[in-house]
Amino acid sequence: MRTKISGFYKKSPEERLVIIAKQLNLSKEEQEIIRGQDGFSVDVADHMVENVIGSFPIPLGIAVNFKVNEKEVFVPMATEEPSVIAAASNAAKQSAKGFFTSYTGSIMRGQIQLTNVLDPYGALARIYENKEVILEKCNAEDPTLVSLGGGAKDLDVHVIEGATEKMVVTHLLVDTKDAMGANAVNTMAEAVAPFIEKITGGNAVLRILSNLADQRIVRARGVFENPFLGDKDAEEKFIRAYELAEVDPYRAATHNKGIMNGITAVVLATGNDTRAVEAGAHAYAAITGRYRSLTHWEVGAHDSMIGSIELPMPVGLIGGATTSHPVAKVAMKILGVETAEELAGIIASVGLAQNFAGLKALAGKGIQEGHMKLHARNIARMVGAKDDDLDKVVELAAKQGKISYETIKQIVLSLEVDND
Ligand code: HMG
Repeated sequence: MRTKISGFYKKSPEERLVIIAKQLNLSKEEQEIIRGQDGFSVDVADHMVENVIGSFPIPLGIAVNFKVNEKEVFVPMATEEPSVIAAASNAAKQSAKGFFTSYTGSIMRGQIQLTNVLDPYGALARIYENKEVILEKCNAEDPTLVSLGGGAKDLDVHVIEGATEKMVVTHLLVDTKDAMGANAVNTMAEAVAPFIEKITGGNAVLRILSNLADQRIVRARGVFENPFLGDKDAEEKFIRAYELAEVDPYRAATHNKGIMNGITAVVLATGNDTRAVEAGAHAYAAITGRYRSLTHWEVGAHDSMIGSIELPMPVGLIGGATTSHPVAKVAMKILGVETAEELAGIIASVGLAQNFAGLKALAGKGIQEGHMKLHARNIARMVGAKDDDLDKVVELAAKQGKISYETIKQIVLSLEVDND
């Protein structure tokens, strides 16, 4: 499969789909689903959430040029934001060897909070003494997961000083394998809570998954060969921009938002839980006590730029919308992933690529030139340009060298006068 396709963006949506369909053997039905003809009926929506009256379409694009762990991959991205997919493709093109990833495994945490415990430290000890029984009770809830090699594997217990009292919080460590696993973990936490109450004398309050999935960490690394073509000033600015995100939460929030532009788009396209991934990412970014960058950047040999990213990635291939949303199912086929580990690695690589493209633009001419060029069509539509005039409006704005709301509005008004 060849995913390094120059000029992919210059083709029509139909031509792009044909390229993808051919390389991935998408059936006619799958192609129709992607085109949006048969994709997402109100009936499907009505079975997914409550009080449905329709659906809310989001563009689905493909980032090209990605190679992850030596395998080329087309990356489906669902996003409403212009320049995100272009930026990911642009960065992936500049990482000649691609991205390399690792994964700590699919361990999720479930928390069982106990209040009114007479002897919190004694209770902590009793929970550990009963560890095997607790794990057995959890695993009895999900024989299928256990048969696949997953299930509750371990626990750790914390005494936490709250505003009113010392609380005892048990963490169940559950290997959810290729599922995101929230339901499996919550079921286990609720099932085992009465036993934990019995051995500690406390009252169970919360029995729920933690979205800080710090035992489900994915790491990705990418090397960008001489991206500044020897321009030391640009290289220096790139590193300084990254360094600010390491020490200043105001900058880190924007830096990480740029990373999440890519990550959330793939998570959404695959029907995974965007809020779970986002909550985990931001909590992990603050795990040292200060909110900082999810990525690291270093200058390597021969002016290369070495990037790495590390964050929790609670995504799965089964369960939830990953299997019930027709478009997500085709997106999964396009990715060609067989394990949650592979999916996590691709998503982290896209986040890293996104950060590289954003920082490179910021350290160079600024973000507005590239971003606004791609945003120009949206603005033109917003100010009332006819579909047939969109390309002309963007071209005229680019010629004026200023793509802004005001410039585009003036151009659209002048075209209207000409048409009259
Ligand atoms: P460019 O250098 O003008 O592009 O970049 P190019 O013409 O040299 O093309 C290079 C490659 O980019 C192309 O390869 C395409 O893969 C891709 P080719 O096909 O020619 O072999 N590409 C496109 N793909 C799809 N549609 C397009 C397109 N144009 C190029 N129209 C580009 C132009 C916009 C890509 C570049 O300026 C860029 O990467 N900018 C960054 C944009 C960005 O980060 N956008 C995210 C939104 S801004 C934000 O919210 C995040 C931020 O605040 C985060 C932070 O602060 O850290 C920035």
